[in-house]
Amino acid sequence: MLKGKRIILGISGGIAAYKSPLIIRLLKQKGASVQVVCTQNALKFVTLPVLETLSENSVYLDVFPKNRAYSTEHISITDNADAMLVAPATGNVIGKFASGIADDALSTTFMAFDKPVFIAPAMNTKMWLSPIVQRNVKMLSELKHILIGPGEGDLACGYAGAGRMSEPQEIVDSLEAFFSSKSLSGKKVLVTAGPTFEKIDPVRYIGNFSSGKMGYAIASVLASRGAEVVLVSGPVSIAADPKVELIATESAMQMHQACLKQFPKCDAAIMAAAVADFRPADFSNKKLKKENTDSLTIKLEKNPDILAELGSKKKKGQIVIGFALETDNEVENARKKLNNKKADLIVLNSLNDAGSGFMHNTNSIVLVDRTGKPIKYPLMSKTEAAAIVVDALEALLNVKK
Ligand code: PMT
Repeated sequence: MLKGKRIILGISGGIAAYKSPLIIRLLKQKGASVQVVCTQNALKFVTLPVLETLSENSVYLDVFPKNRAYSTEHISITDNADAMLVAPATGNVIGKFASGIADDALSTTFMAFDKPVFIAPAMNTKMWLSPIVQRNVKMLSELKHILIGPGEGDLACGYAGAGRMSEPQEIVDSLEAFFSSKSLSGKKVLVTAGPTFEKIDPVRYIGNFSSGKMGYAIASVLASRGAEVVLVSGPVSIAADPKVELIATESAMQMHQACLKQFPKCDAAIMAAAVADFRPADFSNKKLKKENTDSLTIKLEKNPDILAELGSKKKKGQIVIGFALETDNEVENARKKLNNKKADLIVLNSLNDAGSGFMHNTNSIVLVDRTGKPIKYPLMSKTEAAAIVVDALEALLNVKK
């Protein structure tokens, strides 16, 4: 789907620029042509010959080069491109884009570009979380520019947290998904993602390790294929694709209510949330104190099983896909879930597979349906895994790609 596409790759001056050559290679392998535009600071992290050799193109670096009589390259290269990708996008460059500053090759090209722009931020966690950067990012996504990441993890500065540039493969997958055919236009899909928090008292809750990445990737792939997407999410710290409608919930009961309301308007549901099976039977309005007791017993009561309710009671022709997160007898347990919850398909992921399940950017999934043998896929990015789940949904909806 990237074959023949002409991509401008903007590179700004952050340590993640060392990964930009890999982005060029991946784009070229997909059949795209690449025009690199970079800031002077980017060249402190990656060299011109590397960028020129891999892109097989000259790099646009200087708005007023000495050896040229006139200079409007920032306009002409935008005429000859289908999309612009800025990776890494530093806090400085994001600030310039958001405030309309055009003072170098990259920012003037961005200002002149009137086709889809993808921005992959990369910076220190404290910078990423600063209200100014968050405001600028919000502004850019309101202007329909497409944010990719950032992810979380170890940062070059020694910090760990949000701000790490998404991996080159994920970035290229996002572009590919954008240019893929709109096979799901006219379809509406409900997606659940993230954990649920079940409150014990005003300061404590029972929760789990779900980051929301798997469900958010599914929502994004669905939207890129033209589906209308309602994403019912538990509390997470990642941003939703601006093309999806986000309904933020906290507890299983809130998620349950939101899903019951949305499901009748949908053609399908994909339930990737890690919903707590139980909640504290009593909520204490006051913080529970540790004095005068050596132990504490919290009575739990069962939460509604949202997937089972949609699959066995509410379904009126919709396709319902559930997940199963297992630690033992994986396929057998997934089959039980398929039958007991009356789902059309279960996406199994096992905590025994390294790099799979909670929080990782990768997942190794097995599709379990009623017709045949389970299909196991190797470890891949969550965006790639999401594309496989959405392919399976398309097959069940009988949608031609
Ligand atoms: O969010 P990430 O960090 O990216 O991690 C992704 C993930 C591991 C959370 C995801 O891939 C996943 O496996 N989600 C389902 C986790 C889970 O709770 O599995 P389960 O086997 O307990 O539940 C089975 C299915 O029933 C799931 O579709 C779940 O959404 C649904 N369910 C469960 C309980 C409940 N009360 N209501 C439900 O709808």
